[in-house]
Amino acid sequence: MIGEKKVLYSGMQATGTLTLGNYLGALKNWVGLSGEYECFYGVMDLHSLTLRQDPPAFRKNARSLYALYVAAGLDPEKNCIYYQSHVSAHAELGWLLCCFTYMGELSRMTQFKDKAAKHADNINAGLYTYPVLMAADILLYQADLVPVGVDQKQHLEICRDIATRFNNIFGDVFTIPEPYISASGAKIMSLQEPEHKMSKSDENPNATILLLDDTDTIIRKFKRAVTDSEHEIRYDQEKKPGISNLIDIYSVVTGKSRAEIEREFSDGGYGAFKLAVGEAVAAELKPLQARYQELLADKAYLDARIKENDEKAQYTANRTLRKVQKKLGLTERIR
Ligand code: TYM
Repeated sequence: MIGEKKVLYSGMQATGTLTLGNYLGALKNWVGLSGEYECFYGVMDLHSLTLRQDPPAFRKNARSLYALYVAAGLDPEKNCIYYQSHVSAHAELGWLLCCFTYMGELSRMTQFKDKAAKHADNINAGLYTYPVLMAADILLYQADLVPVGVDQKQHLEICRDIATRFNNIFGDVFTIPEPYISASGAKIMSLQEPEHKMSKSDENPNATILLLDDTDTIIRKFKRAVTDSEHEIRYDQEKKPGISNLIDIYSVVTGKSRAEIEREFSDGGYGAFKLAVGEAVAAELKPLQARYQELLADKAYLDARIKENDEKAQYTANRTLRKVQKKLGLTERIR
């Protein structure tokens, strides 16, 4: 708790451009929840380093991510939006928690196994200890709630395990966070291979809607979305993964239920439905894109918000870090 409010924490990696999956699975929920909680949102640049980054592009992506958070509707004067690398407590608590995490636990992480398989030439220790840094992110702010997509569920579980283990030894140091995974939108699938998650790193550009794609591109990608050989717009994840994914996307964007959507399009074919989904998504993203351009043009405004929020995040994170250091018996600083 900070004051009267519970704490919400989340973040995204500062790699590439966000996808519709990042938006519907996480960012849109953050905006919906932000009034009720004391919110911290990190631009997770340290996490991005598990893959090789091109420094100038990386710097640009991190700023772009900051601007996208704001453009999506998170007011940086009410929400603490900050750069992870500007708060050294993340790396410090990450190390301390590594000493309370078992190799066996980390070896079971599916994201580690997937990424190690994809990048066999760069299976670095950072990739392996990634969930510990993520646990440090969350625990530093004593978060009650962490809104994420389904793919982060396992990381939330290990975070809770590490925090519980630490608390069992040293008393109530950390708040145990609850994941918040929305009923629809928590796993947006690829438009080309709807059995797989929509992902920034997909090599096929038609598989992924990027948040900064223009209207024509969005509509074209939806028109090309892989579906099935039937004609019926019916939700069935097993047998009709493509159509079910489109129903989910349309449902999150319009607020209509799956049943309402099935009824609305019961007479039309796939073509009309795909067009409707494309138009709805493009209309949803248009104001965000306009606001994003304005923000990038206003350097002084973003810089001022970054500076004040960095300080707020440092203050909050350092309070937890000092508490942990003391519990562990590290010698206190002489003032
Ligand atoms: P990242 O950057 O991969 O993704 C950011 C958020 O977007 C969600 N997401 C999706 N949701 C639905 N459908 C999809 N296709 C889809 N793709 C991505 C993710 O679940 C996530 O919520 N490890 C985290 C970043 C992180 C973090 C944290 C998150 C670092 N520290 C602390 C919360 C709290 C990650 O790689 O997310």
